Amino acid sequence: MIDIHTHILPFIDDGSPDCEVSIKMLSSLCEQGVSKVVLTPHFYAYRTDVESFVCKREISVNKLLDELKKKPVDISLYLGAEVLYFDEVWTVDNLDELTIKGTKYIMVEMPFCRWTDSMIGKISRLTSKGYIPIIAHIDRYIKKQKNFSCFYRLAEQGALLQVNTASVLSFFSRLRLKTLFKKGVITLFGTDCHNMEGRAPLYEESMQYIKKMVSKEQYQYMIDRQNFVLKEAQRIY
Ligand SMILES: [Fe+2]
Repeated sequence: MIDIHTHILPFIDDGSPDCEVSIKMLSSLCEQGVSKVVLTPHFYAYRTDVESFVCKREISVNKLLDELKKKPVDISLYLGAEVLYFDEVWTVDNLDELTIKGTKYIMVEMPFCRWTDSMIGKISRLTSKGYIPIIAHIDRYIKKQKNFSCFYRLAEQGALLQVNTASVLSFFSRLRLKTLFKKGVITLFGTDCHNMEGRAPLYEESMQYIKKMVSKEQYQYMIDRQNFVLKEAQRIY
């Protein structure tokens, strides 16, 4: 099983505060049956540039890898980023540095407002440039949108929609997500874990709920789609 969205890298964003917590998060995921984890620290273009981000991320990765030498966890790691949407996102020269390493998949965090046609259009520009946008935690935007049409449009444009696993633990959230699951619009899932407390890696129980919300075939499709994303990805651990 794969967790495609995590803030396990230490000292880089509002996620794991240190290596000890990072190892606990990885161990917890491993115990819940996860074998592959994508590290997706926040990238905010208004705060930093790609070069500085990559440099900071490298330092963080090295610290985590050093710790894993002392306390190994039976899990594979992949590197990515969660890029906060900005209007010029598709014009960034070195965007490949922000994709899941070795692939063209790029995780985008959309703004927490009602999305405009222009925003959805900018995402399609990413697709035109050969990238495959992964729209992070769509469960967090549903209430903000007028209806589901923006999600359908994004999926039609070739974007993949990711849901946070913890969201299906809530009855009302499951109700809101039901249609999107049934229509097969949601294809990816991730914990978006930040720590071991309020935003801990909740995976196993959530996957049981997801299994019940979709058909057997749909569930298998989601698993296969998730695996396909990492097919060409470069493992860093
Ligand atoms: Fe996130």
